[in-house]
Amino acid sequence: MESIWSQSCSIRERETLHGDLEVEVAVIGAGMAGILTAFALQEAGRQVVVLEANRIGSGQTRNTTAKITSQHGMVYQKLIQTMGMDAARQYAQANQLAVRAYKDIIKANRIDCDFEERSAYVYGNDAQTLQEEVRAAVELGLSASYVTDVSIPALAVGAVKFDHQAQFHPLKFLKSISDKLTVYEHTPVQTVEEDRLSTPYGTVKAQQIVFTCHVPFLNFPGMYFTRLHQERSYVLALANAPKVDGMYISAEKGGWSFRNYGEFLLMGGENHRTGENTQGGRYARLRQKAREWFPQSREVAHWSAQDCITPDGVPYIGRYTASRPNWYVATGFQKWGMTTSMVSAMILRDMICGTENSYAQVFDPGRFEAAALPGVAAEGGQAVKGLIKRFFQIPSEEASNIPAGHGGIVFLDGEKVGVYKEQDGTIHAVDIRCPHLGCQLEWNPDERSWDCPCHGSRFDCDGRLISGPAQEEISLSQTQA
Ligand code: FES
Repeated sequence: MESIWSQSCSIRERETLHGDLEVEVAVIGAGMAGILTAFALQEAGRQVVVLEANRIGSGQTRNTTAKITSQHGMVYQKLIQTMGMDAARQYAQANQLAVRAYKDIIKANRIDCDFEERSAYVYGNDAQTLQEEVRAAVELGLSASYVTDVSIPALAVGAVKFDHQAQFHPLKFLKSISDKLTVYEHTPVQTVEEDRLSTPYGTVKAQQIVFTCHVPFLNFPGMYFTRLHQERSYVLALANAPKVDGMYISAEKGGWSFRNYGEFLLMGGENHRTGENTQGGRYARLRQKAREWFPQSREVAHWSAQDCITPDGVPYIGRYTASRPNWYVATGFQKWGMTTSMVSAMILRDMICGTENSYAQVFDPGRFEAAALPGVAAEGGQAVKGLIKRFFQIPSEEASNIPAGHGGIVFLDGEKVGVYKEQDGTIHAVDIRCPHLGCQLEWNPDERSWDCPCHGSRFDCDGRLISGPAQEEISLSQTQA
């Protein structure tokens, strides 16, 4: 099902690239980060084109809950401890500046995108930890306080409240700011070499190249797949549910998020690492909670999001790698893609224009390039587990044992394949080897997709690519009724 944003906004189609181009800056990916970066560069007088494999905003931007905030869970105490006061202050101020930048752009361009200033809350049941987080945030210059009056049904003794945060309709905003940009849709970038991008329909020579495509799809250089993992989460839009007057997330694992959009309540949760949802039931559990808390409510939409997670919780924004000084990247936005898209646009614009940016250092992707820090090693370990599984986990089910409406891994003609059986018995069979680096894909019953537990690539039941880092589809072995 489409998100409430996709249902209520369409963006005009753009041409596919035909022929060869030469530009100052080429941006790969037309989600919020790519479009905002291109917008900022064009405003700064640079000649920019954006290349998009699908449509503008067709990736993660349409599946966000669209909060614009410097409150990223219980992040500030941890950042001070792990990265130091200066780095934590850079992180806090860059994100709060991003909230302000949205407001300024929307006002200056008179963008009708349902922008509303709201407070943001992290609610929880450990008052001491919440209060320590407030102290850390205040020390970093943020407007934070501890409150005990929390207007949500989930159990909470109190919350960390941030003032002057915001929410909006992401696609209405994207539609407006992309309007005067040159964007080529249905133009997947296949290879990037030094200053040249190749697509199936032409090439682009660019002085600077920006990767804003969720996960960088090149394995080398950079090896971003080794220092990121992906997670999924699920959202319901409910009519006839109460106003919560703010944006709420849980301090504790497995909690729920809440915000209103117009007459609807958006309720999210059920996070898991991509490729680790073989039992399903995510939407079912969200619906059960919604029935318990809001018995009069009615579901009008449901959707899911996929986020890139870095080992230290800080996005990678800046130079792609030391060996490619004219390449830039923005990825690893955790669950805060709207805000960090704006942070990315500000930092990358300044780097490309040769202006100093005092917030850039904390986001520098080079911080993990040399050393395999513990978190990075853990990412590698998870990937290895996925690869080992490919060789040693022998599936026991036969195709005929897969119940209608379910998917699983079976042997067909001596080959290990992924099978999804529709209610009418039609079988969709795919190669369950991930084309990125060969991990075994896992069936996700909530989304009817094949998901990779190693680096998070996803494919639909017919093997079509939903999201990378893989660039190819998984070959269709056979379809039969
Ligand atoms: Fe890397 Fe699948 S995404 S092996």
